[in-house]
Amino acid sequence: MSRQPLSVVALISGSGSNLQAIIDATASNPSIKVAAVISNRDDAYGLERAHAAGIETRVLNHKPYPSREAYDQALIELIDSFQPGLVILAGFMRILSPLFVQHYPGRLLNIHPSLLPKYKGLHTHQRVLEAGDTLHGASVHFVTEELDGGPVILQAQVAVETGDTEESLAARVLQQEHIIYPQVVRWFAEGRLAISGRQLEMDGKPLGSPIISPSQTDSE
Ligand code: GAR
Repeated sequence: MSRQPLSVVALISGSGSNLQAIIDATASNPSIKVAAVISNRDDAYGLERAHAAGIETRVLNHKPYPSREAYDQALIELIDSFQPGLVILAGFMRILSPLFVQHYPGRLLNIHPSLLPKYKGLHTHQRVLEAGDTLHGASVHFVTEELDGGPVILQAQVAVETGDTEESLAARVLQQEHIIYPQVVRWFAEGRLAISGRQLEMDGKPLGSPIISPSQTDSE
């Protein structure tokens, strides 16, 4: 029996390379449809990526709104006009209000460039280098009211190499992001992934700790 495809709305603020990875990975997947891409910035390159893929785009600039809640309410209305089953944050660089997060229980995902719970917030690559860590990576997690604090589903690890700069490290982490984010979206679309309270479930079984992605490259 064929199911309706999972309708996905992606929120971006910038380059949209994670969006691109999801578009590419799901283009021929009948169970997923990226219904719309919404940006808070009109110069986000990800909007061009969406246009090129024939996906509807909207810009909702946060600047005219008097408060975070007022913007988030308008954003909810815009997102919901596309009736998504899943909302993904793909480099959406805004802190979301509880109002927003509570509106999408169990269907709001984010990708973050660190091995959460380490390095929540900004400048993760710089902070990893300053700390002298030998291992870095990226995490896909359900969004809760705590910034970058929701249950982590899948992580990819990246070794920090001698001579790494923020840029070189960011590039290798991003390569892994492009693998793990589409993977989690696929699991969600296949109905394999769920969350109840803070408890993750994979294939109907509680997931005690994040899944670690086997090391691989974009080209594999
Ligand atoms: C990615 O590295 C993503 O993990 C990060 O922004 C970048 C967006 O790149 N997100 C965050 O830091 C969220 N806290 P992209 O626009 O090319 O996908």
